[in-house]
Amino acid sequence: MYVCICKGITEKQIVDAVTSRNSNNPKEILKALGVGSDCGTCVEDAVKTLLEVNARTPFEMKDSSNNP
Ligand code: FES
Repeated sequence: MYVCICKGITEKQIVDAVTSRNSNNPKEILKALGVGSDCGTCVEDAVKTLLEVNARTPFEMKDSSNNP
């Protein structure tokens, strides 16, 4: 099922990106896929998908800022 029509990104692609752990940052995952970068109407559903996957296999929350 498509989550982002503009970029042609499916729910499976989001799940695969999360589970492959190319990034531990949910925003980076969506940005890398291009989700929400056009009309933006898909962001809510994309975040829901991320949260569902994260509930099963939690992100290792890393602080990507340079705060000490
Ligand atoms: S549906 Fe995702 S940016 Fe338009």
